[in-house]
Amino acid sequence: MGKSIQAIRGMNDILPSESNYWLKVEETLRNVALSYGYQEIRTPVVELTDLFVRSIGNVTDIVEKEMYTFLDRSGASLTLRPEGTASCVRAGIEHGLLYHQVQRLYYLGPMFRYERPQKDRYRQFHQFGVETYGLSGPDIDAEILLLSRRIWEELKIQDKVTLQLNSLGNESSRAAYKTQLVKYFSDNVEKLDEDCKRRLHSNPLRILDSKNPDLQQLIALAPKITDCLDEVSAKHFKGLSNLLDAVGLQYTINPRLVRGLDYYGLTVFEWVTNSSGAQNAVCGGGHYDNLVCQMGGNATPAVGFAIGMERLVSLVKLVDEKLLEPMSIYFVMLGDEALLKGLKLAENLRRELPKVRVIVNAGGGNLGTQLKRADKSGAHLAFILGENELLQNCVSVKYLRKEVTQQQVSFDQLINFCNKELI
Ligand code: HAM
Repeated sequence: MGKSIQAIRGMNDILPSESNYWLKVEETLRNVALSYGYQEIRTPVVELTDLFVRSIGNVTDIVEKEMYTFLDRSGASLTLRPEGTASCVRAGIEHGLLYHQVQRLYYLGPMFRYERPQKDRYRQFHQFGVETYGLSGPDIDAEILLLSRRIWEELKIQDKVTLQLNSLGNESSRAAYKTQLVKYFSDNVEKLDEDCKRRLHSNPLRILDSKNPDLQQLIALAPKITDCLDEVSAKHFKGLSNLLDAVGLQYTINPRLVRGLDYYGLTVFEWVTNSSGAQNAVCGGGHYDNLVCQMGGNATPAVGFAIGMERLVSLVKLVDEKLLEPMSIYFVMLGDEALLKGLKLAENLRRELPKVRVIVNAGGGNLGTQLKRADKSGAHLAFILGENELLQNCVSVKYLRKEVTQQQVSFDQLINFCNKELI
């Protein structure tokens, strides 16, 4: 026997015991997005490496050390997408979806980052994201935040997440702030670690995001971006907080929130949870009004977010430990004639009640064997068809998950019966 092959570290199988949660979460995400008038966009999993380098930024963790990059057979440098925003912008420009238009888009799919695998951090993970184009906000910022809150509410995890909000200002506010920040950290350069010293001139905002405990005091006393916003940026931020207050969406302003990708300006936000001990972002996003232009399109305001689906599924599991599974029925059929009748009844049930799961015994077996399989399948009810039942035009219904006496239901009452059981 050869040595068995295992999955790549940090890339997970989603097994049948898990997939019910994924189906429920995916269905909810799609339904909420559609109900806000967002349309799905699907882009390739692989893109030219340049797309991510130019959009996410050269001196970000993602581009510096986390991309899965390789040469294809023609020598082109390709990368497995580490996120979805860059691809949406690329597709939008390429297909003429952005210029003088409004777009509300959503996507859902696998992303790849070569990070150190640990709980809630994987090398293949999944994101659900929304991106809007042609709207400069702050009303559209409020819309996508309401959309995210709707998702938490639909999944009943609204108590597990809180919203952190910041503004990175427009370009001129940010430039003024960077000057102050570089001065402050340069005056304290001996306290910085190697990573932050390197960032001091290439990407000083990222120093605020350092997790190094020795630097927290220094970071806490650093100048705040919210004190450096020019009139336009401050008005945008105030406009958003007014809207959020009006709709009762609570948030905390966190002036240290800078995000790990370079394309942001104005509003940035994260929905965080501390249900797993450490504070973790389940959703992050913001405005990126310069990106479309930077990537070769006409200037187009843009704002969006992405949710980490693994993190979302773990939160849903906390509140919904035993997911309410759809009603499922197992047909037990004894003899050839019963098999034929069972197949027809099952097809009819599936046609009339598409939400019910109907499993038909396969592989023969006596009553005991078939009931064991029924039990193992997780079905709620067994519909038994034997000689007697065929003579009386009925099935015997056995409850597999609760103490209810077995009963007979005639063939023409089966749909009615299932409908009642569903309630
Ligand atoms: P991000 O903050 O890099 O933003 O990722 C968004 C979310 O994806 C995170 O909050 C987290 O839940 C999840 N995530 C990221 N990396 C991992 C990982 N290694 N394992 C598991 N989950 C992970 C973006 O990707 C931006 N494109 C969001 C955006 C859209 N901004 C504007 N539009």
